[in-house]
Amino acid sequence: MSVSQSPLQLPLAGFWFGDSATTTAQNVDHIFGIITWICIAFFVLIVGVMITFIVKYRARPGHEEQPSPSHNNSLEIIWSVIPILLVALIFFLGFSGFMEMRTPPANSYDIQVLASKWKFLFRYPNGVESEVLHLPPNQPVRLVQQSADVIHSLYIPAFRTKQDCVPGRYTYQWFEANKPGQYDVFCAEYCGLDHSNMNTFAVVHETEAEFKKMLDTLGTPPFWPPEWGEELWSRKGCKTCHTIDGSAVVGGGPSWKDLWGKEEVLTDGSKVVVDHDYILESIRKPQAKVVAGYTGVNMTAYPESLVSREEVDAIIAYIQYLSDAYDGPTKEEAEAAAEEAKNKAAEEAGTTEEGAAEDDATEAEPADDQPAEDQAAENKPAEEASESSETTDEEPEAPKAGEEE
Ligand code: CUA
Repeated sequence: MSVSQSPLQLPLAGFWFGDSATTTAQNVDHIFGIITWICIAFFVLIVGVMITFIVKYRARPGHEEQPSPSHNNSLEIIWSVIPILLVALIFFLGFSGFMEMRTPPANSYDIQVLASKWKFLFRYPNGVESEVLHLPPNQPVRLVQQSADVIHSLYIPAFRTKQDCVPGRYTYQWFEANKPGQYDVFCAEYCGLDHSNMNTFAVVHETEAEFKKMLDTLGTPPFWPPEWGEELWSRKGCKTCHTIDGSAVVGGGPSWKDLWGKEEVLTDGSKVVVDHDYILESIRKPQAKVVAGYTGVNMTAYPESLVSREEVDAIIAYIQYLSDAYDGPTKEEAEAAAEEAKNKAAEEAGTTEEGAAEDDATEAEPADDQPAEDQAAENKPAEEASESSETTDEEPEAPKAGEEE
């Protein structure tokens, strides 16, 4: 699978940089090539002239020394203007490349990243998780990054992108991988004892279908995020003030219908786009950015102890789902995929007895706080898988990563 290389690609670029597997990487390498070729040209020019002059004007017997000219206007203008043009060109290329790198396309495929001491966990829109980053080819992907503890930094050298994961907020990076293969992923921020072991891989699949198939084999999703969000909307009391059909509640807050991505005007006249960070802030500190028209509405602040980081994610997933622009999997798709994965697991289990035993023991189990009753119903033989998700409490070993309550 060959990818068009920059014509300015340096010889040995592959040796210095390793693989180049995204559109961003080609951009970065292109600009790097231009800058390096400019350096090489000036090096040759300056050193060449220097050596020529050393030889031509060297001290010889009978050679008269002459006074140096104090200045030369045309020469000085030339050696000022040419570098200014070159530096301006480098700035323009660098700035436009940077802006492109910082602005994810609207149709990006979102993958959640949770960094913690000392691993990265990736969660896909249908709720499945993996420790290896699986990617579809030729599609813009946005990583929505968080940290559970300290600052980490997700660095994929072959993609030429790096972004910190900062506790208490969301950060993003995006790329479009266009060269199938497996690439190193590093943590690039010193984060403690096992920082140097905080490595994994990014796998760019050959086709979209192969990527989807891989997601199915990652197991049964522990939950479908929007459904968990809906449950929280009801259970945490959000529904008292926020409708999901666009209607208003007297003395309440904005409806969640089509809220995602909307530009809201605040009481002080400034504007804010409803994104991950805005929703997080509005849950933690409701009075920080009040939308015009909602002055005097005193929403309770929900600290981490009342609404965990994972629950904020689920609420965001639900708010995204309530938008017309939502393009993630529907509940049916998520369930169908889960069903398929389950059947496949059962099939494989059928071939070896011990496999079956193992599968029973390790089948993704519902964590506390998650709404997937269907899930519970499938995993549990008896009728205790009832309407209330609270009954999932008797699964003490439910290994839900990052669960904090
Ligand atoms: Cu995480 Cu270094």
